[in-house]
Amino acid sequence: MQYQNVSQLFSLIQSSPVQKLSTPNAESQGISLAVKRDDLLHPVISGNKWRKLKYLLLSIEAKGFRKVATMGGAYSNFIHALSYVCHLLGWQCDLYIRAHSGQPLTPTLSDCKQWGANIYSMDRKGFRALRERAPELAEDMFWISEGGMHEKSILGLKEIMMELNRQYDYLVIATATGTSVAGLVEGAAIYQPDAKMIGISVLNNAEQQRQDVAKLSPQAKNDWSILEGYEFGGFAKNNSELKLFIAEFYQQHKISLEAVYSGKSFYAVMDLIGKGFFAKNSRILLIHCGGLQGSRELIR
Ligand SMILES: Cc1ncc(COP(=O)(O)O)c(C=O)c1O
Repeated sequence: MQYQNVSQLFSLIQSSPVQKLSTPNAESQGISLAVKRDDLLHPVISGNKWRKLKYLLLSIEAKGFRKVATMGGAYSNFIHALSYVCHLLGWQCDLYIRAHSGQPLTPTLSDCKQWGANIYSMDRKGFRALRERAPELAEDMFWISEGGMHEKSILGLKEIMMELNRQYDYLVIATATGTSVAGLVEGAAIYQPDAKMIGISVLNNAEQQRQDVAKLSPQAKNDWSILEGYEFGGFAKNNSELKLFIAEFYQQHKISLEAVYSGKSFYAVMDLIGKGFFAKNSRILLIHCGGLQGSRELIR
């Protein structure tokens, strides 16, 4: 089905449920643990992808653009969701991808191609240069920064806080660029004034993320932090312990995780509970940020 405009797409996605989790470690400390199931928002545009795209696309449309371009890795959840949304809207989508030109398409890129995106392969050097400077684009094409980092993206993340119907002491999410944390911090100031926001860094650049959160959310009222120590070697790296955790977690709770984002943040929370990091009798909300498509061939 083709959608005439961005606001028509809004009807595709409703708010996500909150699911309680019980674990012996949490219970013995009186901790209540719940998951905001943003992975269930939509089969393709799941998790923070929809949250990031919603108001960003509206503002792009309002400026009169119907063509967008962005950059990302060959498994990127953002390029996947963006290509799909452009397909639904009939917009042109150009993707600058870090990959060798002869390399077979990843499942992520095959989907993007099937949805009509144009794929341009970039070598490491060229890709890095794009991070410094966007490519020369036609005047009618809008450039979106890698991963959808934009002041408009944080508006959709704020809405996660609006959907909660109880107060939490800790809000936890996986973090890579810090955009999600910045949006949640903004929303928490209004809807969760006493909650501490914790981002679990999934790559070795926590300091950069702290600076970016401070830039995107300069008036943050809530206490927030980016925790290190759960990167498992760096972005998209994992090990057998993390894979085992993900498999066992699924068996116990019937919630799918992947090894790039949610697996690391959920592992971190369970580990931190075991270490007595969280106050006794506190309420923790873990936000499942989706991204299950990206792990199709990484972990199985
Ligand atoms: C599934 C998933 N979770 C978490 C993140 C990290 O979000 P952010 O870049 O806003 O910190 C990403 C990347 O954007 C992602 O794809």
